[in-house]
Amino acid sequence: MRRRFVPRFVALITSLSIFIIVLSACSNGGSSSDAPGDASNVKPIARISPATEQFVAIGDSVTFTGDTSSDPDSDEPLSYQWTFSGVATSIQQSTNSNAGDVIFTEAGTVSVSLVVTDSLGLVSDTAVTQVNVVNQAPNGSISHDNGNGSAGSTGNISIPMGNSVVFNSTVTDPEGDPVSYEWSSQGGTPSTSVTDSSVTVNYPNAGTFSVSLVVSDDNDNSTTIPATPLVVTVVAALPAFKHLPVLEPTMLGGVATYTLNAQESVNVVVESPSGNWTTPMMRYNDLQLPPVITAKRGDSISVTVNNNLSASDEDTTVHWHGFKIPGSQDGGPDFPIAVGASKTYSFTLVQPAASLWFHPHAHGTTATQVYNGLAGAFILTDDITDALEANNELPSGEYDISLLVQDRRFAEENATGVRNLEPIPQLGMSLVLGEHILVNGVEMPALEVATSQYRFRLYNASNARTYKFSLDNGADFYVVGTDGGLLNAPVLTKAIMLGAGERAEIVVDFRNRLNQQVKLISQAAPNSAAVSDVMRFDVNREVVDPVILYSSLPAGAEVNTRLTEAQADVTRDFVMSMKMGGNGVQFLINNKAFDMSRVDESVASGAVEIWSIQNTSVMEHPFHAHAIQWQVLDRERSGVLSPASGIDLGWKDTVLVQPGETVRFIGRFDPEVNTGLYMYHCHILEHEDAGMMGTFEVLPP
Ligand code: C2O
Ligand code: CU
Ligand code: CU
Repeated sequence: MRRRFVPRFVALITSLSIFIIVLSACSNGGSSSDAPGDASNVKPIARISPATEQFVAIGDSVTFTGDTSSDPDSDEPLSYQWTFSGVATSIQQSTNSNAGDVIFTEAGTVSVSLVVTDSLGLVSDTAVTQVNVVNQAPNGSISHDNGNGSAGSTGNISIPMGNSVVFNSTVTDPEGDPVSYEWSSQGGTPSTSVTDSSVTVNYPNAGTFSVSLVVSDDNDNSTTIPATPLVVTVVAALPAFKHLPVLEPTMLGGVATYTLNAQESVNVVVESPSGNWTTPMMRYNDLQLPPVITAKRGDSISVTVNNNLSASDEDTTVHWHGFKIPGSQDGGPDFPIAVGASKTYSFTLVQPAASLWFHPHAHGTTATQVYNGLAGAFILTDDITDALEANNELPSGEYDISLLVQDRRFAEENATGVRNLEPIPQLGMSLVLGEHILVNGVEMPALEVATSQYRFRLYNASNARTYKFSLDNGADFYVVGTDGGLLNAPVLTKAIMLGAGERAEIVVDFRNRLNQQVKLISQAAPNSAAVSDVMRFDVNREVVDPVILYSSLPAGAEVNTRLTEAQADVTRDFVMSMKMGGNGVQFLINNKAFDMSRVDESVASGAVEIWSIQNTSVMEHPFHAHAIQWQVLDRERSGVLSPASGIDLGWKDTVLVQPGETVRFIGRFDPEVNTGLYMYHCHILEHEDAGMMGTFEVLPP
């Protein structure tokens, strides 16, 4: 019966051939068995080991074996027929119990089938297992070369702004498939193709960026390398520090003679880490930066000031801040210089060496003219500082550097590529700060320094901002001088607070800091919650520093002669207050706003006076008096009285008075130099212009 069917099936599709073979095997078994008709003969069982589904990578091999004793009635030997269907495979053997190492060369699913035939020709059912051949994504790593000896380094990278980095990849595909590349470089500008195995990226801006690479094979299997993108820190290339230009005098009959032309619309190039721009400013003598005048105690100088502020049409003066000179030479608002006019200031320097300064002080325009750029440093030396410098007890020469610190706001660049100064409104109940802190006209400059001690003359020449200067590495430094000269003994500290108008001389030690970068920062101060960068010192060369800082001044130094309360002829009280009224906040001293026609205080020639300054307002005010250098007696706040110590033992012409604080200082109005009208005022210049100022007269001897 089965045979009769055979011819009818011959023409049927070949896929049934296995079935036919099975049928014929049965038939053969039935007719040619050693034991024909033996009902006990049963077909063998095919078993594949491993029997479970396999997941392998392309190129991996698997060894399949069949069971060698899987015929229930032991009609052995068994013969094996392996079939691998699906994507091509490489089969070494196919008729043994062991199929050999089967190598899977392409992705896909492969069915592995086995039938076994026993010695009587009975054929098993088909055993099947599956192999899933998986294509693996390429993988590798990134290295980079920034031309700074970091070639081949694989970690995160820190580079100066403006640099380029070459990123190289080492990538392999497990299957050897062709690989394609796609770089992404956030924050950078690739200058070569991002689809090559390496890429060059330029970094024009500072910031923290990332780089990663996606590699794909021709099956679109991709990997991102590194798994966590590489971090590229681009450090701002800081503009170079600029030294203030020193004015050269003309000597006329033994008098050092200078000319200061107060100019406006001077196109000043402001350099900053985020680029340079031009700002029209006021300057002396068309200089790009505020100048320095130097003199020695005993020198007589003569400075002719020409007011060329014709477009602004403002009076000006030059006030000699911190100088002990007659009222007529002091440059207060009582001697204005009109546009087109001149005034010659002449005086002799009769006070200790100090970091003094000068700035305009005409009525109502002090704040704007200083803000617009009129100011200068005045460095006074004397025999004591000369000797300390000569004996290597104080850094000098190139190790003595003035830092004029001023905050500013700049408008957006206009159509002609200019960024104008924007005023900082300071007449509210709190201070507004400039977001650009300039040191000698440059924002965040870098100064290259040697492994040495440096003396920095810190000038807070800002209109309003208080700084709390410190070093970002937390290092101590010495304060050696205050407004009016050197301290008898250097004071070691980690921070010094300077209100507007105050100065300090500090000594910073870079001797053990070769190849380090140290930032001068301003910590959070009463009027500024934020920490600000001010400038950076890059210690990049080695020198032998011969300086051993002085521990006390020579006995004759005037700062060592402390006036005592008992010596005072008079005590005057000054109350600084702010009140709402009129057109907003009023800034008052002793409840009065400034009136040029009024003399508020009269001082006898040669008098020793205690001035007691109480701040009843909500913000700090730096109180300044012309004509004199004071000695602080004590500070009182919340009932706690602190006698002067440390930095307060230095000469002061400007004293920061905190809200609720009373500061008392004592001084002698030197009959040699002090006569005439002078000002006392808050050195937040906007407060001064708004009326927080008074006039005092030192009567003639
Ligand atoms: Cu620096 Cu009356 O000021
Ligand atoms: Cu002054
Ligand atoms: Cu003030």
